[in-house]
Amino acid sequence: MRSSAITLALGAAVLVLGSFCCGAVLAQDKDKVIAERQDFMKQQIRQWIIVRNYVQGNAEQPAAVAAADALVKLVPMIEKHFPPGTAGPTPDGKWATKPEVWSEHDKFVAAEKKVAEQVAALDAAVKSGDKAKVEVAFKDLDACNACHNTFRAKLQ
Ligand code: HEC
Repeated sequence: MRSSAITLALGAAVLVLGSFCCGAVLAQDKDKVIAERQDFMKQQIRQWIIVRNYVQGNAEQPAAVAAADALVKLVPMIEKHFPPGTAGPTPDGKWATKPEVWSEHDKFVAAEKKVAEQVAALDAAVKSGDKAKVEVAFKDLDACNACHNTFRAKLQ
């Protein structure tokens, strides 16, 4: 009798702990995830700007190669920055991540894959040093915005 009550209590404790540890993301974790996600996206835009400067003749090829290499590494990590339960507004209240990131997850992953292909092409072009090729590949890199248009909402 007693031991089964203990077992029951233990079971409940494990359940509660379980939902804390691995279920929905806690509020404070959510803020952290969103802050890190913004940093991550900013890192991507910084690399993008270096390549753009190169296209415009304001940066050297080695800097552009490093930036394109960084993008090739960063883009496949996009998905990791969107754990379930982290939809909603950014701290500045200007943007929000839409719930479609999770309800249409296939589309989200496809958008990431598309950018991965585009930055790989850009990386190859930058490394070739062929400016005309770089210009084409840079213009083609439109999937960052394609994903933003679908999965990111402007609030203000
Ligand atoms: C698969 C979808 C997806 C792709 C691909 C993607 N992003 Fe984002 N990005 C988002 C979402 C969703 C947000 C809003 C998230 C947030 O701010 O919490 C965002 C936010 C941003 C922000 C704003 C960050 C801030 O401080 O508010 C920048 C800058 C950005 N992305 C740059 C890029 C660049 C550059 C690329 C391409 C190399 C890219 N993103 C590719 C989904 C994507």
